[in-house]
Amino acid sequence: MIYSRIVATGAYLPARVVRNDEFAQRLDTTDSWIRERTGIVERRIADASQGSSDLALEASRAALAAAQLAPGDIDLIIVATSTPDFVFPSTACLLQAKLGAKGCPAFDVQAVCSGFIYGLATADSFIRGGTVRRALVVGTEVFSRIMDWNDRATCVLFGDGAGAVVLAADSAPGIHASALHADGSYASALSVPGNVSGGRIVGSPYLQMQGNQVFKMAVKVLDEVARETLSAAGMKVGDIDWLIPHQANVRILEATARKLGLPLERLVVTVDHHGNTSAASVPLALDECVRSGRIRTGHRVLMEGVGGGFTWGAVLATM
Ligand code: UT7
Repeated sequence: MIYSRIVATGAYLPARVVRNDEFAQRLDTTDSWIRERTGIVERRIADASQGSSDLALEASRAALAAAQLAPGDIDLIIVATSTPDFVFPSTACLLQAKLGAKGCPAFDVQAVCSGFIYGLATADSFIRGGTVRRALVVGTEVFSRIMDWNDRATCVLFGDGAGAVVLAADSAPGIHASALHADGSYASALSVPGNVSGGRIVGSPYLQMQGNQVFKMAVKVLDEVARETLSAAGMKVGDIDWLIPHQANVRILEATARKLGLPLERLVVTVDHHGNTSAASVPLALDECVRSGRIRTGHRVLMEGVGGGFTWGAVLATM
């Protein structure tokens, strides 16, 4: 039996730190509102010269270095992003070229904040199918580019960054189980409802969100998909060492942990210093925990995504 295992992680955060006070200086908001309603204290914002592929490149290099692999050792590249450099080619192809690799399949996954989970489950299927030995899965976003910086209800929530993992074939899991879902009837709850047509933007290039609706839906599906994934693996909540949900809002994270009956000490929270980095949030959090030694080899980690589409999913892995 072939399984896939996360053998290394990497991350990149842009240098510029934006604290809540910066918003309070020019918008009708306060540091305390943002902290109390979201848990966010600061986020990183990319330089104008940096695209998603640039952030992905730094995170990928860190993951490859940790895996002691060269770009040419990778058989598959999947990039999860909703803020690609271009309409096409895919950010995955741009990343492949920047890494100096050639030939392996490379494609983007567009599942918004669930994108990394979708990418991880997809790479796991390729490895279990036997056609791929090593895969690079990256979540990378520059959500700062799709913010209306005058809309206090959205612009304070998001940040930029990238996280990456190297997955490799192994005789033992690794990834035990995954579950992916979508319900397109909720498309308007969270969207950037614009496109490029005839040389101009048709619709809106800015993120729009029904915050309350998204909040309720997130808590419901994060609980359901955690239970579904644990059940598929024949495990219980007590069997996991760490829960890494998509980092959207500390109130969503804590409500999810409480619903599952998981002690808060086992909940990973990075939204306070990353903000919501969409597809990058789970691999950024994973890398931070691996590098700090909190998550170690043998630990069981349940990772979860939820976001626009609506999409949601989870992957349960032994590190
Ligand atoms: O990545 C996945 C997608 N995103 C999410 O999962 C986000 C999910 N939603 C949320 O995290 C929360 O719904 C928000 C943080 C977006 C909003 O928190 P809330 O507790 O649901 O607040 P609300 O939308 O009910 O707004 C309460 C009030 C409103 O004022 P009124 O109508 O009561 O007078 C808002 O206009 O707070 C106001 N408000 C703000 N006030 C100060 C909204 N944004 C701000 C702000 N500063 N930045």
